[in-house]
Amino acid sequence: MQLFCRSVVVVVQSGGSVSGPRREGPRRTRGKATTTASSNRFFFFGKKATLTRTTQFSSTSFGGASSSVVVGRRRRGNVVEDIAAKAASVSSSSSSESVPKYARNVNTVQVQRDENECVLNTYGRGQSRVITHGKGVVCFDSEGKKYLDFTAGIAVNCLGHADERLAEVIAEQAKTLLHTSNLYHTQPQATLARKLVETSFADRAFFCNSGTEANEACVKFARKYHYMKFQKMSKSDQEFYKQPATETVSFKNGFHGRTMGALALTWKEQYRKPFEPLMPGNTFATYGDLKSAAKVIKRGKTAVVFVEPAQGEGGIFPADAEFLKGLRKLCDENDCLLAYDEVQCGLGRTGYLWAHQKIGKECEPDLLSAAKPLANGLPIGCVLMKQKVADAMQPGDHGSTFAGGPLVCQAALHVVDRVQEPGFLDNVKTNGKYLKDKLAEGLKGHPMFKEVRGTGLLVGIQFTDMAGPLVKACGENGLLVITAGKGDVLRLVPPLVVTKEQIDEAVKIICEQAFKVMV
Ligand SMILES: Cc1ncc(COP(=O)(O)O)c(C=O)c1O
Repeated sequence: MQLFCRSVVVVVQSGGSVSGPRREGPRRTRGKATTTASSNRFFFFGKKATLTRTTQFSSTSFGGASSSVVVGRRRRGNVVEDIAAKAASVSSSSSSESVPKYARNVNTVQVQRDENECVLNTYGRGQSRVITHGKGVVCFDSEGKKYLDFTAGIAVNCLGHADERLAEVIAEQAKTLLHTSNLYHTQPQATLARKLVETSFADRAFFCNSGTEANEACVKFARKYHYMKFQKMSKSDQEFYKQPATETVSFKNGFHGRTMGALALTWKEQYRKPFEPLMPGNTFATYGDLKSAAKVIKRGKTAVVFVEPAQGEGGIFPADAEFLKGLRKLCDENDCLLAYDEVQCGLGRTGYLWAHQKIGKECEPDLLSAAKPLANGLPIGCVLMKQKVADAMQPGDHGSTFAGGPLVCQAALHVVDRVQEPGFLDNVKTNGKYLKDKLAEGLKGHPMFKEVRGTGLLVGIQFTDMAGPLVKACGENGLLVITAGKGDVLRLVPPLVVTKEQIDEAVKIICEQAFKVMV
């Protein structure tokens, strides 16, 4: 598309490729938007400029951390006009009819500037593209660029983007009942609980709003379980144990969330250190090593052992059957609870509804936390538990205003049904294997490639060096991916509805780019 614009001034301060005569300077510059974004809408210096959506700036500064854009404003009478924003919205108004209504007229630079100036900087959005809409495994940014989304909102969008059947369910519920608090019964919550207990080891479900909240709840439930147990002990046992078991055990490379309790269970020191003191009493054991676990699980002290049946954030490490069975046994022998964190690996990601179900009844937990994909992107968390844990909890012991609301539960009901449709989980298994095989084949001989590992569609590529440059190159070439572990693992968690053709396309991009940028 072509745009004639006289009034926008952009100065790329460093790292960018734009320079040139300034025909018209900003009278007033408000806000320096330090952005890492490409912004191919800012190539007009008082002359006719040709703007294509994918050329110019994007090739030189896409995601470049060092480019900063000064956006001009000028005063016209009493109106302070955001010149850049106006130009950007002009350029985006060309969106085709296929672009949904709410994704049209997204002002890239304004979004980036608002974020950079107003949103707390807890995510280093190295590639600050503005995602506007999606369909299935594909999504688009505000520049019209198309991506295969192998991030799926960090293992969340299991049905992909803008799933029509889910959208209908959500719209219908939104027109019916959004929120009631937990003071009253609602059908979506009750039916979802019934469905979740019927599909799992559990007798009861507790709803919350996120993965970290689900793990916090597990800690509280475990503590209350041991507290009640202690109350019922004989006097002599109480004298022996002195107090209820309160401690926790979790594993190296594990990730359980960012709130003070869940953070204490999380391995990465850089996440924990600045916020100490956290919840006291957690000890880390080595993942996959029963001897290491046996050393730290202590009768009368350990309340609960937390483990991911397949570690995600920590680097994509699926546990083997012997490890989980052994942990179950150790917990039973030491009278402590076993909690599986299936926030990332649960609900179909591994090709099983619950990741531990691959192994079977011998390793069933007492508690299980789930979240991410449960409502395909609406915020929900959930703890599934055995009756003996539920028995310890009383009204008032825990709760949440929003949790288990009708909207999110109706969405989750739909997701759970869809994931259990005939053939769905088998497809995850087949396509997961296909993805791993294709990657191993395509990366053979790469000097920094170590291995492909994972289970179902939770897949990681281990490199000998940081995979950040590859994430960036994949993004530039139309594939969204993230890292895991120390940053040396490329994590692939596409929507569970991904097809073989989309896998082929993604593998091609990864392999081509790996041979280009990781050498
Ligand atoms: C295994 C695991 N547990 C817990 C969490 C925290 O979930 P949330 O970000 O919803 O709080 C995550 C998030 O990545 C996770 O992967």
